[in-house]
Amino acid sequence: MTSLRELYPIPDIDPVWTVPQGFEASFDWDYDDGRKQMMHLYQKGKDMQWDALNRIDWSIDLGDDNPMEIPDELGGIQTTPVWAKMNDRERAHYRRHMQAWTVSQFMQGEQAALICAAKIVQQVPDLDAKFYASTQVMDEARHVEAYKKLIECFGVAYPMTHPLQTLVDQALRDSRWDMTYLAMQVVIEGLALAAFNNIRETAGNSLAQQVNAYVMQDESRHVAFGRLTLKDYYPQLTQKERDEREEFLVEACYHMRDRFEARELYETLDLPADEIIAAQNESGFQKMFRTMLFSRIVPIVRDIGLWSDKIQKAYADMGVLGFADIDYETLMQGDNARAEELDEINKQKRQAYVEEVAAHGANGVAAE
Ligand SMILES: [Fe+2]
Ligand SMILES: [Fe+2]
Repeated sequence: MTSLRELYPIPDIDPVWTVPQGFEASFDWDYDDGRKQMMHLYQKGKDMQWDALNRIDWSIDLGDDNPMEIPDELGGIQTTPVWAKMNDRERAHYRRHMQAWTVSQFMQGEQAALICAAKIVQQVPDLDAKFYASTQVMDEARHVEAYKKLIECFGVAYPMTHPLQTLVDQALRDSRWDMTYLAMQVVIEGLALAAFNNIRETAGNSLAQQVNAYVMQDESRHVAFGRLTLKDYYPQLTQKERDEREEFLVEACYHMRDRFEARELYETLDLPADEIIAAQNESGFQKMFRTMLFSRIVPIVRDIGLWSDKIQKAYADMGVLGFADIDYETLMQGDNARAEELDEINKQKRQAYVEEVAAHGANGVAAE
């Protein structure tokens, strides 16, 4: 397959999206040694590059009825009358499209991350941060590659959903370099980590587990990069400037909580979008699910010092303030451990395969 265009079930999607840019690219003539933690993160970024073609076992197929083997409760409509009326074939069709929609948002979001990381390379004033961000550019390219391959396994793809596009557009247009970090490394990557985590932990399909676990291993480093940079920078700003950042964060979080819905998916499948969305807004499970999506954002916001009473009040109102106490280092270690665990399983499987082929070959020779 050379292009995903034929996999979009929605007609007339523009082949490109362009966002005008107006910012200063900044050079750092000091070439100093860089901050110790930042250089450590940069070294990790270099050491931990991986290749989607070799590390992931692409011989695994997705299932027919439930491609990633995700529980139906996470499918978004299981509590609605629409689901109750569907027969088995319709449910299988819905699962394929719903999961492809989700993975498409990952793939499209990864391309946004690629472009935002490249913007950070140009804009951020310090060379050590440019170094780190350049490893992120490569990471994001590999993530786009991995999710594109996964989407091909579904045979259907969706464009970037409008609420995500709005946030990416804001991140790119803003001429203040830290706003790209705030929108991408804190909000979008924070949400993505929680969403990847759902699939890594609930999918029965090993291909889906692997792609998400390996991408998460990198993403938690990206979020750590944002945290490190902004933690240094925000104390240097005035209270008024910090207030502006907090306002942006609160708005972005409400926007993603209230607007991030799969309307175009329901419309493509001829399902009653308004009815489904209204039912989701009433569902306790959906509310809990949306709340969980903020588990990775809130501890970072607290750590970078955008933690006035106002933002705490907003997060309390959203029911996510409790996540502030999560220790980010522990989460990161967990993400690493899960990826290494899957590496180990893969290694054992490959070893078993090689041994089986060898044994089979030997028997075959003996039988002749
Ligand atoms: Fe990524
Ligand atoms: Fe990332």
